[in-house]
Amino acid sequence: MANIFTRSANGVMDWVNERAPALAPMYRKHMSEYYAPKNFNIWYIFGVLSLVALVNQILTGIFLTMHFKPSAAEAFASVEYIMRDVEWGWLIRYMHSTGASLFFVVVYIHMFRGLMYGSYRKPRELVWVLGMLIYLVLMAEAFMGYVLPWGQMSFWGAKVIISLFGAIPVIGNGLTEWIMGDYLPGDATLNRFFALHVIAVPLVLLLLVVLHLGALHEVGSNNPDGVEIKKGPKGNRWSPTAPTDGIPFHPYYTVKDTVFVGFFLMLAAFIIFFAPAFGGWFLEHDNFTEANRLVTPAHIKPVWYYTPYYAMLRVIPDKLGGVMVMFGAIAILFAVPWLDRSKVHSVRYRGWISKAMLALLAVCFVWLGKIGAGPGTDPVETQIGRVLTFLYFAFFITMPLWTKIDKTKPVPERVTTHD
Ligand code: HEM
Repeated sequence: MANIFTRSANGVMDWVNERAPALAPMYRKHMSEYYAPKNFNIWYIFGVLSLVALVNQILTGIFLTMHFKPSAAEAFASVEYIMRDVEWGWLIRYMHSTGASLFFVVVYIHMFRGLMYGSYRKPRELVWVLGMLIYLVLMAEAFMGYVLPWGQMSFWGAKVIISLFGAIPVIGNGLTEWIMGDYLPGDATLNRFFALHVIAVPLVLLLLVVLHLGALHEVGSNNPDGVEIKKGPKGNRWSPTAPTDGIPFHPYYTVKDTVFVGFFLMLAAFIIFFAPAFGGWFLEHDNFTEANRLVTPAHIKPVWYYTPYYAMLRVIPDKLGGVMVMFGAIAILFAVPWLDRSKVHSVRYRGWISKAMLALLAVCFVWLGKIGAGPGTDPVETQIGRVLTFLYFAFFITMPLWTKIDKTKPVPERVTTHD
């Protein structure tokens, strides 16, 4: 039996190879002959988990689109219909809405890994820049998706965020109106956000992810030691020219990744089944009420993954200043590859200053996130928010200095687990 299957499979492969001879080399370059460092640790799973989260969003999004009505009059009711009447609709909807938050959880950890191991350093600057573009586009995608169910927070969140463009001198008000297609978020806004959310932005996102991985595979992966395996000895049991410290991505990492993807899916299922709103962090309570342009929610706040930036916006007294600081906080991340002057890549071989600075950045980001999620009425918290915003920017602006003066440890010639 097996013989028949093997022979038919080989026959199909020969048939395809004859007609598309470029496919097999592509498979080899990115899978079976992509030599990834053998010392990857748990932090290296989050790129794959980001891919899993992306695929989940696309698949569940397709099914939601089959039942969703993109009009201000019908959107909210159509989501309620999905939740109550469509077979398994509640699951598809929660997989998408809670899935969005899980997507950001894994992307934030993925970015932090990059900062820890200096994965943005030469020759991987492009990988980082493309990653940052993905992050920007992902934020726009999630924002537009959040507006679609037309709940109270969809409406008022859209109003607050789109109105930020009003702070731009001269063209601000015209631009706000142009984006909304109205004086307030309305039918026109919902329709265009729907078109952008379901097709235009996902296409851009997919393209960027392909470029991100393409750029990575050109130069090869970094690793927790931050040493270049391509510069080390050559030759392993699969190829005389491959880096000795590299192992084929397939089957070694595909198998390992599958195990962790399994764990991730179990955790995700647990959250989706038992705590899909996650205490209001993933789905805000106000969004279970239909949009009403005459009633403002007590506290308008975005979902947790935007709150660090939202806190920065709120603690700056001037509107234009706040908007500039908020966008500046994202923009400065693009520059990290050129701000880091350390002799070594990985945090493992950096001194205490780099470790303390990275910890400080994480604390600032999380604390700002907490402040941004609160009502924003406590003056002490506002002062703390200002200090944290200052420290956040100080991390990046002084990076060339502290990465230079920080004492580094000697980096091994080869990855530490090469035996
Ligand atoms: C949809 C979102 C994303 C997907 C699907 C994705 C996917 C991946 C995958 C599969 C890898 C290889 C495995 C790994 O190293 O973990 C990777 C590597 C990398 N990604 Fe992403 N990524 C995303 C977003 C980002 C973002 C937002 C950044 C940073 C701004 C980023 C920066 C990097 C870097 C620097 C590497 C190379 C890591 C190394 O070799 O040490 N990625 N990405």
